[in-house]
Formats: sequence, C-alpha cells, structure tokens
Amino acid sequence: MNAGAQPRVVAANVLDAVLHHGRSLKAELAAGLPALRDPRDRALVEAICFAALRIRHRGDAALAAWIPRPLPRRDAPLRALLLAGFAQLDPLGLPAHAALAATVDAAREMGRAHQSGLVNALLRRAQRDGLPEGDWRDLWPSWLRGRLKADWPDAFEDIITAGNTQAPTWLRVNRLRGTREDYLQRLQAAGIEAQLVDGLDDALRIDGSLPVALLPGFADGDVSVQDGAAQQVADALAPPRGARVLDACAAPGGKSAHLLERDPTLRLVALDIDAARLRKVGENFARLGVGASASLHVADATDTAAWWDGEPFDAILLDAPCSATGIVRRQPDVLLHRREQDIVSLARLQASLLDALWPLLAPGGTLLYATCSILRDENERQVDAFLGRTPDAAAEALAETFGHPAGAGRQRLPGEGGMDGFFHARLRKRA
Ligand SMILES: C[S@@+](CC[C@H](N)C(=O)[O-])C[C@H]1O[C@@H](n2cnc3c(N)ncnc32)[C@H](O)[C@@H]1O
Repeated sequence: MNAGAQPRVVAANVLDAVLHHGRSLKAELAAGLPALRDPRDRALVEAICFAALRIRHRGDAALAAWIPRPLPRRDAPLRALLLAGFAQLDPLGLPAHAALAATVDAAREMGRAHQSGLVNALLRRAQRDGLPEGDWRDLWPSWLRGRLKADWPDAFEDIITAGNTQAPTWLRVNRLRGTREDYLQRLQAAGIEAQLVDGLDDALRIDGSLPVALLPGFADGDVSVQDGAAQQVADALAPPRGARVLDACAAPGGKSAHLLERDPTLRLVALDIDAARLRKVGENFARLGVGASASLHVADATDTAAWWDGEPFDAILLDAPCSATGIVRRQPDVLLHRREQDIVSLARLQASLLDALWPLLAPGGTLLYATCSILRDENERQVDAFLGRTPDAAAEALAETFGHPAGAGRQRLPGEGGMDGFFHARLRKRA
C-alpha cells in the first residue's frame, strides 16, 4: 500500500461519519487518529478533515458539475474521500502528484477499486481547472445566517469569513514550570516560530496548526493548547488567593487548570455532567502537575442538593454549554449539526444553571458567566434576564476592552485578535 493511503482512508472515514451519520468531528478524530502512529500523519488527517469541511460547498459544486448523475447514497464514503482529495489540492496545496496517488490508493483500500479511475479523473480535473467557487450559503444554514445578521449586522461578513478560515494555534505556558519567554526559546530551538501576545500573560501564538506531540515538553505538562479568548477567563474571574472556587462546567479542564497554574492554593471544586469528559480534567491536571487537592465530581450542576456540601464559594466560573457559534473555525461541524431549536433549549439550560448556582455564591463573591457563542440570546439577553430576576446580583463594570460591549458583558467576535468568538460577564453578589 502507498504509505500515504492510510491517512486518507482515516480522513475519509471521519468525514463520512461527520457528513453522513451526524457524528461529531472531535469525537471521530479522537476515535480515528490513534490508528496512525506517526504524529505527522495524525496532523495531516486533521488538516484534511478541517479543510474538506470548509470547502464542502466547493467540492459538492465540482461533483455536481463534473459527474453526470448525483452520487447515490451507497457512495457516501466515496463523496467523503473525494472531498478529502479536493481539500489536499486546495486549500492545503499539498504536492499534487503524491496527494493524487495516495488518494487513489485509498479508494482501493476502501474496497472501491472499481471507482479508483473516477477518483483519479476528478482529482486531475480539480488540479487542472481548480474547484468552482460554489455558494458559501450552502455551508451556513439559513436560520444561523438570519440570526447572525440580526445580531451583528455590521460584522456579519467578517464572522462568516472568520468561520471559514483556519485558526492559529494558541499555547498556554504552564507558569509553574517556566516562563513563556523561556518556552519561546525552546520552540525556536525546535524550529517552531511563535509570538508573544500582549495582554495575555501566559500565551504564545503559532500560525497554522501543529500536532501537540511536536510541542517540547507537552507530555510533561510544560504547555497546553488553549485559545487566547479562553485564557482571558483567569484574569476576568481573578479569584482571591486561596479562594474556594467552583468550576461548574469544567471539562476538559482548560480554564480550571489555568486558574490552578496561577494559584495552586485555590480550593477548587470542578463538576461536569459527562463522566468521560470529567476524566479528561483529571488527566489534564495530572499532566500539568496541578489540582492535587481539587475535588472533581460527575454531577448535574443544577442539582445542587446532590453534590453541594453547603460551604459557599468565593468565586464561580460558569463556562456554560452553548451553541459554539463562536468557534466554527475549530468545530466546522457546528454548521452541519446545530439546529435552531437547540438555541432555545441551550438558553433554558443556561438560565437554570445561573439560577441554581447563584445561591451557592458567598455575599461579595463573583460569578463569571462565559460562552463560546456569538448569539445574543445566549449571552447579553441571558445575563440581562438573570439580572432582572435576581435582586442581589449586580453586573460589574469590566475594565476589559476587547471586542464589543454586549449588555453587561463583552463579546469578542471570531477572528478578532486572532481569537475565538467568546462572551463573558462578571456578576457580583451584593454583600
Ligand atoms: C463549554 S464546555 C466547558 C469547557 C471547560 N470549561 C474548559 O475550559 O475546558 C461545557 C461543559 O458543560 C458540561 N455540562 C453540560 N450541562 C451540564 C450540567 N447540567 N452540569 C454540569 N456540566 C454540564 C458539558 O459536558 C461540557 O463539558
């Protein structure tokens, strides 16, 4: 077998599951990548899958124009492989000869030897003529376009462009292990270009994507991958030293770990409703050398009677489950799987989390409400409604100047400062 065929088979299988069986890209990559030993092959599969989902409208336009009849259902895996093949040429720009040979070989590996000639012909045509432009509206569902236009009329086009653009890689240097200046030098010694970022004390930014296995000291906990917007949360919550802190929706633990890297004396309680995801919190803490005295619970945060011991928290982070509409560039399958009805149920869940957690906050304490959504129903309207029904809650003025004012909070739109779309508001309990 052509050595490059296996990553193409894995990419096609992941795309087939995501495109045709409603599966999540993250979960399919997590299941498929371990089959590949070489970290560069794993990085290639990720790059192909992301790029293929971003050019899905152009790939489908090519298939509609270049083959006489639409592919039947039984050829869904072939469509996935063809989209993977197109993406390697544009936007990934891989050497065409090798990409074509490996993708045609992958067709044979997938039991589609009888269609390998078709794969070869279509990829050659894409190489020669380029893919048609397609219609980007085929990528973004009309309900979401409507909401984004209503919520952000002036920024609508920038939001779409950012969603269709590859994100940079953001690193968070573990300050318990060394400075980011030292880590920058280690990256340079490994031939990796990165930049310091003003205003984010632990952050480094690398253009494009990079497999974590290539990051010096990753396995030893010297560094994590975390978007710059998510790294703002530790500053925004800023719990007092040694405070008792609740992270109510903690998994996989990025923000909790950052808080603990900054202050290992915090008395942290981390919850998540999803046991498998909560295990990741423990694994991340162990890798980073934090959280030895943190307590982790699988729990529904709204069911406080089941998990709360009655001792109030000085600070609460509610990084709420949301539509993820601010991170389409990192989760392009949001555009395939999210339904308008989900926004109503997510907003209801967010409201019940706010209502259930507020009584657990000590007088004078702070609750930071955050989401990676850019929809006003989940963000400023959610917070405004909460303030309206909660007499002892007050919005704190934010010193932060990023993004856009949004009711009591601030909203960063995707791509601004190179970061993800993100909202946060800080709420103080009156003493
Ligand atoms: C946005 S993610 C949290 C990301 C995390 N704070 C981090 O920085 O790594 C939201 C999390 O909320 C969890 N979740 C959803 N509903 C919940 C509930 N009722 N109680 C507790 N956790 C919940 C989900 O399983 C998911 O892990």
